[in-house]
Amino acid sequence: MGTTLASAADPDALIGAAMPVRTALRIGTAALQSAGVESPAADAEWLLAGVLGLSRSALALDPHRAVGAPHDARYALALRRRMDREPLQHILGTQAFRGLTVRVGPEAMVPRPETELLVEWALELLPRAPAPLVLDLGAGTGCIACAIAVERDDATVLALELSPAAAALARANVGALGLDARVTVVESDLFAALGGVRADLIVANPPYLPSVVIPTLAPEVSRFDPQLALDGGDDGLDVIRRIVAEAPARLKQGGMLLLETAGGSQMGTVGALLEAAGFTRVTARRDLAGVERFVAGGLD
Ligand SMILES: C[S@@+](CC[C@H](N)C(=O)[O-])C[C@H]1O[C@@H](n2cnc3c(N)ncnc32)[C@H](O)[C@@H]1O
Repeated sequence: MGTTLASAADPDALIGAAMPVRTALRIGTAALQSAGVESPAADAEWLLAGVLGLSRSALALDPHRAVGAPHDARYALALRRRMDREPLQHILGTQAFRGLTVRVGPEAMVPRPETELLVEWALELLPRAPAPLVLDLGAGTGCIACAIAVERDDATVLALELSPAAAALARANVGALGLDARVTVVESDLFAALGGVRADLIVANPPYLPSVVIPTLAPEVSRFDPQLALDGGDDGLDVIRRIVAEAPARLKQGGMLLLETAGGSQMGTVGALLEAAGFTRVTARRDLAGVERFVAGGLD
């Protein structure tokens, strides 16, 4: 079935036309491209595969399959949402994170691939002694807490989160992954609700962006990730300063603090903050793009 030039980028052209997958993808790609989406072809595939309940590879193997009702209207709606620059993950409802499938939505920041490396380092830093206690500060979806609990099956994790909506989402993820026995989500302003607990490891991917940067970011981030997840104040370090100052009283002797930062000049500043707070063995690591982003320090 052919498409006119006018309909080439109009998702509504899909409705009632029972177009083959190949044509539906072509229209979806053109629609997303016209809206400035960065990877229009891949996103169109993800959306159509999601609507049809198929994997992307199964979709690729069936290019002549007709996209009929109700999938045509659902796909058109998903394209419209993506054209409004809503993140792909919000539309699909999930995001993969270290082999887990995590529910995502407007309640919390979509987990980023670089944070998988933060978890990797966290797992290396955990003491071998049985049953370590981990604090995940600013849990968001709970992705860090859940991944640590899954990959270190004797660990207990307290996931602390200021936003009630994000905490509820994190709890839903903990429950869906069957981790209620070892991951507890607590609504808390940093450590405030914690009482006298001391941990072996504190890990945090806190809000670290300077406030002025946020409006300049892609709409998927600036309009759809919660401000509370992004905004670190004038220099991006408001929350990190508080974490570094309060962490020593929340760690066991020999415990470690591990932070994700924006990288760049923040790394030197955060390293200096850690040393000033009494942390030793202050070390940096790079992200997937080779940028130094993660920093850890220990308490002797
Ligand atoms: C950058 S997001 C990280 C979310 C998640 N850990 C991840 O890596 O995807 C930072 C999180 O910290 C939370 N947050 C911000 N300020 C906080 C505070 N004072 N106490 C606890 N959580 C806070 C935000 O609501 C947000 O969920």
